[in-house]
Amino acid sequence: MEAIIRPDQDSAAHLVARIIAKELRAHPSLVLGLATGRTMEAVYRVLVQMHQQERLDFSLCRTFNLDEYVGLAPTDPRSYRYYMNRRLFSHVNIDKRNTHLPDGTATDLDAECCQYEEKMRRCGGIDLQLLGIGAAGHIGFNEPLSALRSRTRVKALSPATVEQNAAFFGGAANVPRRAITMGVGTILEGRRCILLATGEKKAGVIAKAVEGPITAMISATALQLHTRCTVVLDEAAASQLKAADYYRWIFENEPEWEEFRQSPNRDY
Ligand code: GLP
Repeated sequence: MEAIIRPDQDSAAHLVARIIAKELRAHPSLVLGLATGRTMEAVYRVLVQMHQQERLDFSLCRTFNLDEYVGLAPTDPRSYRYYMNRRLFSHVNIDKRNTHLPDGTATDLDAECCQYEEKMRRCGGIDLQLLGIGAAGHIGFNEPLSALRSRTRVKALSPATVEQNAAFFGGAANVPRRAITMGVGTILEGRRCILLATGEKKAGVIAKAVEGPITAMISATALQLHTRCTVVLDEAAASQLKAADYYRWIFENEPEWEEFRQSPNRDY
């Protein structure tokens, strides 16, 4: 794992978008794993701008989202399918038939989970998996005690997650209690993982996820097992990391990051 610290939320999101754009230009039929949540909105905004201003091409790109609420139809504004259409898919030249999310309204949810895994396999697996982190340290909806080898399945949401998402549903009582989520094992199979976290509220959980011991209580800690995982943070989210100076040195000095050190001279 490596941690990259950028001065603020905007530059952290820009860096993630630039990494995605670089991979997409090198591999136009990239299989992209996508995440939702407030943190990702800035990333999708930059990707849309890159499409409009630099013709970043999504025409061959395939996508698989991490999760979806059980019971919400794609047309429901609170569903993750709706979020993805609104934030990204409807503004770029992606073929919507190549965009996949679990179907939270399927009558047989277990079969839907198996089929989702099968679709990923048929596409050759995820090349680049984008991740956020929940307040309690979950990736996707892999709540406390999620097996570190778990696959796509239905998961009951923890009270912390319900609370975190209450605002989108007009109160905790209206938040769906279950979701379909890629498993921790599924996520770890992605060839590259990028986790983005910004803001002071994430500082405590980021310190645990990056520098703490691996535990099923905090599914993001499993990323320490991944051979190519980059955690991109702003200063606020990095504020409780013990080795922050070392991580800053890496971004400032390692050749891999050279092209990303120069900030692009653009208005987004
Ligand atoms: C939800 C999603 C996660 C996401 C998290 C963080 O729980 N299932 O994939 O990482 O929210 O959201 P935010 O970026 O709004 O903090």
